[in-house]
Amino acid sequence: MARIAIVGPGAIGGVMAAWLAQTGRHEVALCARRPLAGPLTVTNGSQVITADVDVLVDPARARAVDWVLVATKAYDAAGAAAWFPGLCANGAPVAVLQNGVEHRERFAGFMAPEKVVPVMVDCPAERTGPLQVRQRGLAKLAVADDAPGRAFAALFVGTDVAVETSEDFKSVLWRKLCVNAAGVLPALLLKPAAVFQDERIGEIARGIVRECIAVGRAEGASLDDDLAESVLARYRAAPPDSVNSLHADRAAGRPTEIDARNGVVVRLGRKHGIATPLNQMAVALIEAGK
Ligand SMILES: NC(=O)c1ccc[n+]([C@@H]2O[C@H](COP(=O)([O-])OP(=O)(O)OC[C@H]3O[C@@H](n4cnc5c(N)ncnc54)[C@H](OP(=O)(O)O)[C@@H]3O)[C@@H](O)[C@H]2O)c1
Repeated sequence: MARIAIVGPGAIGGVMAAWLAQTGRHEVALCARRPLAGPLTVTNGSQVITADVDVLVDPARARAVDWVLVATKAYDAAGAAAWFPGLCANGAPVAVLQNGVEHRERFAGFMAPEKVVPVMVDCPAERTGPLQVRQRGLAKLAVADDAPGRAFAALFVGTDVAVETSEDFKSVLWRKLCVNAAGVLPALLLKPAAVFQDERIGEIARGIVRECIAVGRAEGASLDDDLAESVLARYRAAPPDSVNSLHADRAAGRPTEIDARNGVVVRLGRKHGIATPLNQMAVALIEAGK
């Protein structure tokens, strides 16, 4: 049995909380910014999972747990960290379920780097109500194949959440970043995935991913040359009306994860002397368009 607190009761936090609670092996609480009433419901096609989980709203009253899972957006790291003093009073590790490649850097200053367990999230889902989530595909996570990564994976035994442990986790994160980096194009155009069918947009997407590959390789990731093509193929095979989270956030006037998805390519490119003009332009346009 583990006591697990999930900071961020959104799409990913909801899916993870529902599955972890379903095992009957864990005590699961959601840490939210405001009170949320009712059972947590996750719908995945015809499958409906319902879980009764505690909802905490005051970081000052948080009690020590065995694991903290952070499932806020990357830009809400500081707010999420306000929960750490209470929840991690006994030294609990913090699994960060967020996009990007800077899971540890994002929480530097709030948590010792060795306590942070970076998690790659591949789980299409969106919130449809305060404690309601629609999952639109398989829930897949990946972690490093080390002791903390394996301990994290063990939490999910008996659930439908697949947790892969990887000996080359850095490359796993960068491959996901390549997908996310190209996702800036529909967000800029405020059009769903169908825009990738346009060959001119496809060519820009390949360029954005090639910049990400170059920077990722300089950071030590192992990335195939054909990744640009496979990322584009993935977007072209997606439902034409699908909307990525950067697009959804921008359309709703919320902050976006542009820095975690494209800004990082520009920043790390600069560090390695690698030009990233397409990512740079994308960041500038998203930021100027706020
Ligand atoms: N959803 C997907 O399909 C998907 C797929 C792959 C990766 N990801 C990544 O997973 C991460 C989480 O995304 P998401 O889609 O689950 O986001 P989301 O639905 O927007 O949920 C984020 C949640 O964090 C909460 N939050 C923010 N600050 C908080 C704080 N200080 N204390 C407690 N809760 C706080 C928000 O609260 P409010 O309700 O008050 O706003 C919201 O409920 C992101 O990095 C995302 O890129 C998502």
